[in-house]
Amino acid sequence: MRWVLQKNIKICLFLSANDLGMRAVMDHLMSGLRAAAEPTRLRLLALCGQGELTVGELVEILGQSQPRVSRHLKLLCDGGLLDRFRDGTFVFYRLARRGVGAELARHVLSLLPAEDPIATLDRERLAARKRERAAAANAYFRANAAQWDRMRSLYVDEREVEAALMALLPPEGIGDFLDVGTGTGRMLELFGPRVEHAVGVDLAREMLAVARANLERAGLRNWSLRQGDMYQLPLPAESFDAAVFHQVLHYAEDPLRALREASRVLRPGGRLVIVDFAPHEVEALRAEHAHRRLGFADDELAQSCAEAGFDPGAIAHLPGQPLTVTLWSARRRLAAQQPRRAAETAARAGAAAVPS
Ligand SMILES: C[S@@+](CC[C@H](N)C(=O)[O-])C[C@H]1O[C@@H](n2cnc3c(N)ncnc32)[C@H](O)[C@@H]1O
Repeated sequence: MRWVLQKNIKICLFLSANDLGMRAVMDHLMSGLRAAAEPTRLRLLALCGQGELTVGELVEILGQSQPRVSRHLKLLCDGGLLDRFRDGTFVFYRLARRGVGAELARHVLSLLPAEDPIATLDRERLAARKRERAAAANAYFRANAAQWDRMRSLYVDEREVEAALMALLPPEGIGDFLDVGTGTGRMLELFGPRVEHAVGVDLAREMLAVARANLERAGLRNWSLRQGDMYQLPLPAESFDAAVFHQVLHYAEDPLRALREASRVLRPGGRLVIVDFAPHEVEALRAEHAHRRLGFADDELAQSCAEAGFDPGAIAHLPGQPLTVTLWSARRRLAAQQPRRAAETAARAGAAAVPS
């Protein structure tokens, strides 16, 4: 009897926890649906589906007042459809990455008709804005290509960073090595003598010209340079054993997309190291040196790596004043472990919404 009673109590508790979970999912779903059900908010969702954007950029693209746009953004964040994060004095918005709202936002986006005239205009304005920013960043690198090797060591002691990089990414066993945003080719010079073949990709021709001269001067033979975009690497899938982003990701409009592209070209089990700044407040780097993001927090990069198909690994911090350099390592998941994105998001949504 006692036993039966205990068993019954257990069953009751289980059912009520399950009911609570269902209720939470339904509540999230309802508030997400309410948040999405407005024309300007649908436009905002569609825009944030294309990267991380500031209020100022969204105001400019929508042509509506800042208080109005901010109110809509707040409702979308409260509804769980968008994430808001601070970066120095800027605030960015992007599609939510976890929970019922994240799944709902992606589903809503997939239903929006691509040929809608207002959405088309928004996309064109966003593309024009991105082109302007890319041109400004490119102009910066064109102007600074010749002195980049001197400038890159201004922030931190280069030798310390390179020693930490070698410790996190020992070159033994690396056949094909990729340097994304190679700039003047320093990573190729460093890894070239220790790997079979090293490839550097960069958007700026001027940077590549300096890289070519540096690599020739170093007497290396096993390298090649490609002009290309980190979002669309001109390289076949699963063709590299290791990849590095060295002081590149803070220029990215959409760091997650760049990591997904790196994941595409790495072989299963392939290694990735990102070298960049920890979060900082040196706005001058944005204003004068074309940085898009003022560093990255460990948990943000771990989450982005996981979403891009990597298992996050060891992290090293090299504290400096005012900038700390961080190295994040990750490994491309084996093919069998690569979760399908929708299933992965749904599982996370459930985990986030259902109390255990
Ligand atoms: C700060 S430099 C770093 C260069 C090199 N990794 C180093 O540490 O010396 C950043 C480089 O990223 C490149 N870059 C920026 N955006 C890019 C993109 N979308 N695709 C490819 N390269 C990009 C720039 O042209 C520049 O050469």
